[in-house]
Amino acid sequence: MNIILGVSGGIAAYKSAELARAFMERGHAVQVVMTAAAEEFIQPLTFAALTGRKVITSLFGSRTSEEVLSSSVEHVRVAQEGDVLVVAPATANVLAKFAHGLADDFLSTLYLAFEGRVVLAPAMNTNMWRHAATIRNLEALRARGHTIIEPEEGMLACGTIGPGRLADVEKICDAALTAPLRDLEAETILITAGPTQEPLDPVRYISNRSSGKMGFALAAAAVARGARVILISGPVHLDTPRGAELVRVRTAVEMRDAVMKHLAESTIIVKSAAVADYHAANVSGQKLKKKAERLSLELDPTPDILAELGQKKGGRLLIGFAAETQRLLEEARRKLKSKNCDMIAANLVGQDNTGFESDENEVVLALSTGEAINIPRGSKRAVAERIFDEALRLRLALHAVR
Ligand code: CTP
Repeated sequence: MNIILGVSGGIAAYKSAELARAFMERGHAVQVVMTAAAEEFIQPLTFAALTGRKVITSLFGSRTSEEVLSSSVEHVRVAQEGDVLVVAPATANVLAKFAHGLADDFLSTLYLAFEGRVVLAPAMNTNMWRHAATIRNLEALRARGHTIIEPEEGMLACGTIGPGRLADVEKICDAALTAPLRDLEAETILITAGPTQEPLDPVRYISNRSSGKMGFALAAAAVARGARVILISGPVHLDTPRGAELVRVRTAVEMRDAVMKHLAESTIIVKSAAVADYHAANVSGQKLKKKAERLSLELDPTPDILAELGQKKGGRLLIGFAAETQRLLEEARRKLKSKNCDMIAANLVGQDNTGFESDENEVVLALSTGEAINIPRGSKRAVAERIFDEALRLRLALHAVR
């Protein structure tokens, strides 16, 4: 394997020398890329000696104009040749640059040009690790399907005790070398996500608290496992997983039309969107004016996309969601039957730490075989992976029956 080892500036930079050696000992080729800050902590010569290759240290560091020109495309060449990009230690700054797509040095430019698997091993001060900005950045990177090797707890260089120490070198090495699962390569997966917005007038709408995080996590997981992903999403504030084809919609009717348009191409459909059940019978062309008396709105039901899919699915695997505040499994089984699905993933909403806006979820899967499977609380990405594991198992079971 061709491994690109990114080293950014932190006390733990010396441990990346051990990591480079571990990769080499296992028979892999290693190209080291150092940030300018990393050079303050460790000499490029150390890595050059360990890997037998010239270490790349900066984007525009070369002297002659020819050298500047050739180095300005080198990040593309290195990106194309690498199978996996491992950054250890990954500082808060590198995480932020990657999350936002900044490209002001060789490593961050290479990252944008790189299409393979990304493994990040952060190391930093505990407060930096827990900062809301870092949490958001990690969330965005996880949503893109990158593997984050969480730092360990311990005494840090700054004297504090807490999480922030670079993970064990063997652990980073194993994560980088583990072949990713590509068991969805033959699939085209249609995923709906987020809320829908049903306009009342030019400035107001009916909607719900769905953040889209579950659907986007499903999309990232499916892309990482090799699927072609068509992600049909209502209005959300999330980064689109790299490789997913995003179709933006606003209303339930628009979502229905987009889903039906792409139905023929799909092999698996996952309806994680929280579709509004009602829309205004008459949308006002002008802003509704405030009056003293009570206002009643006339609402009509929106098309039930999942139920329509249940009628048209053919041999496709149809997975619905159910957001409930009570009687989880009972409701899931009712929807499974009434909408002719193969699986319903049901989760409790209206609680603090799972459901709509949360980064975590906990679901019960009701299967058409009669089974019920509990997926314990975990990140939405972890739950997404389990849903696909169970979906593939279910399809095998259904085919065996037919
Ligand atoms: N759904 C849909 N179209 C709708 C409403 C819901 O496709 N107009 C889908 C959702 O994407 C989800 C599933 O149906 O996969 C269940 O959604 P939920 O709101 O929990 O169920 P409802 O059918 O609306 O039932 P209820 O309101 O009675 O709970």
